[in-house]
Amino acid sequence: MINIAVLGYGTIGSGVIEVLKTNGDSIAKKAGKQINVKYILDRKEFPGDPIMEKLVKDFEIILNDPEVKIVVEVMGGVEPAYSYVKAALLNGKSVVTSNKELVAKHGAELLDIAKEKELNFLFEASVGGGIPIIRPLNQSLTADEIVEITGILNGTTNFILSKMSEEESDFDTVLKNAQDMGYAERNPAADIEGHDACRKIAILSSLAYGMQVDYEDIYTEGITHITDTDIKYARAMGARIKLFATSVRDNDEQVYAMVAPMMIKADHPLYIVNDVFNGIFVRGNVIGDVMFYGSGAGKLPTASAVVADVVDVAKHLSKNIWTIWSSKKLELKDISQVKHRFFIRVEGTADTSLKNKIKDLFGEVEEVTADGVDGEYAFLTSLIKEQDITKIRENLPGILNVIRVRF
Ligand code: HSE
Repeated sequence: MINIAVLGYGTIGSGVIEVLKTNGDSIAKKAGKQINVKYILDRKEFPGDPIMEKLVKDFEIILNDPEVKIVVEVMGGVEPAYSYVKAALLNGKSVVTSNKELVAKHGAELLDIAKEKELNFLFEASVGGGIPIIRPLNQSLTADEIVEITGILNGTTNFILSKMSEEESDFDTVLKNAQDMGYAERNPAADIEGHDACRKIAILSSLAYGMQVDYEDIYTEGITHITDTDIKYARAMGARIKLFATSVRDNDEQVYAMVAPMMIKADHPLYIVNDVFNGIFVRGNVIGDVMFYGSGAGKLPTASAVVADVVDVAKHLSKNIWTIWSSKKLELKDISQVKHRFFIRVEGTADTSLKNKIKDLFGEVEEVTADGVDGEYAFLTSLIKEQDITKIRENLPGILNVIRVRF
């Protein structure tokens, strides 16, 4: 038997208890031993819940109990999670976490401590919920140089964009549904402003390139500026709008990373990733293209990944699973040099003077129309640099929206 302690009895923490209860026997077989939850740490009370007998409010009880071999941190947020996780590792306990804020900020340091102490620090659930992506990057794709990772990494925004498109529902109603279903972050700005996806692509990039990618360096744009009119145009073009989190190793060996809404068509492998699902497309220089798809948020899918990490730790007691993530910072390429096609909507009627102005600024463009939309002019540019679009934005009054296009 192996004793674990679960920090946080919220959506994921209660999911972990449920998964261990539902699949306890098969999990024990796979781990080679029974997994016993000795403590659950939470500030709240849960009257009537059988976990009450394991509930503690003082982390020191867990830290100082030598019988606890694995700490499962599912509280979220950087503090006090970071202090608890670091103390647990320094006290000889392996840690499993679903906490992307913690991993994005302190992953390299915590991995180093785990390595030094012959312990493990595993975080499969921190990106893509239940989808295996951390372990594939660390173990299955190690023969490759990763040249691109593009993911739909936030379930809440994918759910919102999908529903806006399928049901013509408005933003606030769909966000409320996502919150009710337990997908959204406590502060939904983290989802809709792209910060959650940003931390996740920072983690994947750090693993793929073996160096620290700081999330603060990643250009991040959320979905709050996407309107039902943009969705109408996308539909008219046979396209969908997705929040893409991307990192690419360019021909010049430099890496750029960004989070931004992207219009894609059916020929893109992530086109079929809808609702709360996540999808992660990875391109390696030898394997070519691979895709990972599944539930990117929610209680049980996320808990499934957490418990699978617990099983892995139980199988590797006193043996560190080597993960390359140096604390040396990877300097990202300035995205101003990156090229995209852009979909642009401008106020006004499509008369010769407006068209000539646009031609002067962009060269030849492709006009786009959508049923029921008038009083504006919409078009697709050819491939242009990000820095050019920034300059043009300053010189073209009446821009209603600008969305990157991948077709
Ligand atoms: N708020 C996150 C999402 C939860 O919607 O994807 C999973 O990290």
